[in-house]
Order: sequence, then C-alpha cells, then structure tokens
Amino acid sequence: MPNETPVALRHGQVRDPGRLDRLWRRGTALLGTRYAIMGGAMSWVSERHLVAAISNAGGFGVIACAAMGPARLSEEIAATKALTDLPFGVNLITMHPELDDLIEACAEQEVSHVVLAGGLPRAQAIGRIKGSGARLLCFAPALSLARKLVRMGVDALIIEGMEAGGHVGPVATSVLAQEILPEIGEVPVFVAGGIGRGEAIAGYLEMGASGCQLGTRFVCATESIAHPAFKRAFIRASARDAQTSVQLDARFPVIPVRALANAASARFIDCQRQVIARYQGGELDMKAAQLEIERFWVGALRRAVIDGDVEGGSVMAGQSVGMVTAEQSTADIIAELVSEAAAALARRGDAAESEAAAPDPSE
Ligand SMILES: Cc1cc2nc3c(=O)[nH]c(=O)nc-3n(C[C@H](O)[C@H](O)[C@H](O)COP(=O)(O)O)c2cc1C
Repeated sequence: MPNETPVALRHGQVRDPGRLDRLWRRGTALLGTRYAIMGGAMSWVSERHLVAAISNAGGFGVIACAAMGPARLSEEIAATKALTDLPFGVNLITMHPELDDLIEACAEQEVSHVVLAGGLPRAQAIGRIKGSGARLLCFAPALSLARKLVRMGVDALIIEGMEAGGHVGPVATSVLAQEILPEIGEVPVFVAGGIGRGEAIAGYLEMGASGCQLGTRFVCATESIAHPAFKRAFIRASARDAQTSVQLDARFPVIPVRALANAASARFIDCQRQVIARYQGGELDMKAAQLEIERFWVGALRRAVIDGDVEGGSVMAGQSVGMVTAEQSTADIIAELVSEAAAALARRGDAAESEAAAPDPSE
C-alpha cells in the first residue's frame, strides 16, 4: 500500500496532503502504518474488533491487556491477527503481577509493538520486550522521565495530558507538548489527551510530534463493542461532564481518573466521607480505610462498558467527548481526522504563500 494520504478525501479537498505525510513520516515508519494515528488502548473497549478496525483503516490499533492473564491475552492477540494483517500493538500495565508472562505471551505471538503504561518500567522488562524484536513505546509523564526512558532504550514515547479519559496525570497536553517536544529528538513522540479533531493533530505535528493517540473519539465507533448505553452517554455528554475523581482527604489518596460525572461519582464522595468518619472514630485503621476507598471502583469500568450500567459504573471519558456526536465507522473517524489535519496544514501553507506574495507596505 503506498504510504500516501489520498488527495481528495470524502470530508474535503486537500491541496497538499504531502505535508501531512512528511510531518508524521517518523511516526508512520515506527508504527508501519499509513497514518500516525494511534487508537489508545482502552480497557474492555480495545479488543479484537476495534483494534483490527483501526489498523485496517490505516491507523494503529492497540489491545488493552488490563487485567487479562497471559492465556487470555494470547487468545486476544491471535483473534486480532485473524481480523487484520496490518500492524497493531499490545498495551501492558507495568504493575500487572504477571507482567513477565504477558511479555512472554507477546513474544510468542510475535507482537510487533508493545506499549507499557502505568509507571516507569524496570530495565529488565524493557530488555525482554526489545529482545523479542518488538518496538517499545512508553508513556512519559514529565521531561525528566522522557529523558530517562530514552536512555533506557525505548523506541518511542507517548505524552498524555490530563484532558484524556481514564487514569490521568496533573499536567495538560498543551503544556507537556511544549515542555517535551522541543527537547526530545532521539525518538518519535506521540501526543495524547483531549484530541478530537484533525486540526489539533496538525498542530501537534507542527510542534514536533510524530503522531497522535486518541481514545475517547473511538469509543463510539461502529466496531466498538461498548454497550449502546455507554455509547449514548458519550454522544450526550459535553466536555465539562468528563471530570476527574474527587479526593476528600490528603491522607487517603485517590488515583485521578477522568470519567463522566454520574451517580457513582457522587456516591464515591459519600463513600470517602463515611470511611474517613469510621477511621476518625477508630473503627478502621488507615490501611483498611484506604482499601475500602480503593475497592469502590473495582469492576466499575466493566459494569459500564459491557453491562451498560452508566450510572453505577465508571464511564471513563476524556474532555474530547463533546466532539463525539454520533456512532460512526472507524474508517470514517480516521478519514475525518486525516482530512481535517491535511486541510489545516494546507490552509496555513496558503496563508504563508499569500503573505509572502503581498507587497510590503513600508516599501
Ligand atoms: C474508557 C477508557 C479506558 C482506558 N483504558 C486505558 C488502559 O487500559 N491503558 C492505558 O494505557 N490507557 C487507557 N486509556 C487511555 C487511552 O489509551 C488514551 O491514551 C486516551 O484515551 C487518550 O486521550 P483521549 O481520551 O482524550 O483521546 C483509557 C481511556 C478510556 C477513555
């Protein structure tokens, strides 16, 4: 397949699609794709169907391993391979108790790209993944960690800002991009968090990114197995509905997760209030209190994504959820993003040309 963006896409005419191809060339080369658009792994959502659909549409699908064991992961990789011949990746969480066996499962299945999420990986994990021949991508939540990961030998970085859906850090995508993109040239960097349209992709590419990763925008793809009620909640929601979890007491930390505000997020605040009162009354010690708070969300994403319990479960969503307005095929979502990105770059090229051609009023 020629690695070129079609000149006339359904969503608009584009004069210079070559500019987009040039800007994300490092990203497409690393991923082995037509477009440097990654479909970020989403637990329960990013399984064989959505992952294969994203790769088949020219992007890069990523399986979310989440809590799967090695045998279940192997089965999912094989099932995805049956649906696409194109490259896709597997996202592993570094604190998974069976991480070594999961890496082994990826190696046995000859997975071409592994994404490590959830904290700084151990050098041994990096060595084993790279030793299997796979490309390794890691999340870098700050410039110092980005530099460290490059030194440790990762092949690419993903920087994800707090606008994203799911577990988030404290810094916005726009700030991470300004801090990290000008400083890291050794490996391609992909930007994630809050991206809903191609114009934003174009902007990050011009700042030095090699590609972008989107999650929220793919939840309502026709091929996504998310429950219809989960998809309806996305389509109804606006940016301000995607809020981070509230922590009531600094002694009992809450991992920040961005999700649509619902009955469960309100109950979570009550739960913390009650647990803190029981701790202060001497009924619970600190460890037991923290465990009760952590237990609140166990199984909550599955309940929402698979069972459709969008009030009692966790409807993880990024702020770009306001730009999800309908169920669409994955191919249409990607074509729309590519077309918007290419058109934005062409507009800027035209503006620069006419500025250069205009007479200088001072002459
Ligand atoms: C429902 C949901 C589940 C997610 N699960 C994971 C996960 O298991 N592992 C991971 O690394 N990121 C996870 N993410 C983050 C995505 O991979 C992606 O980086 C993020 O959605 C990008 O930001 P956006 O939502 O603004 O597009 C999840 C996001 C959502 C919305």
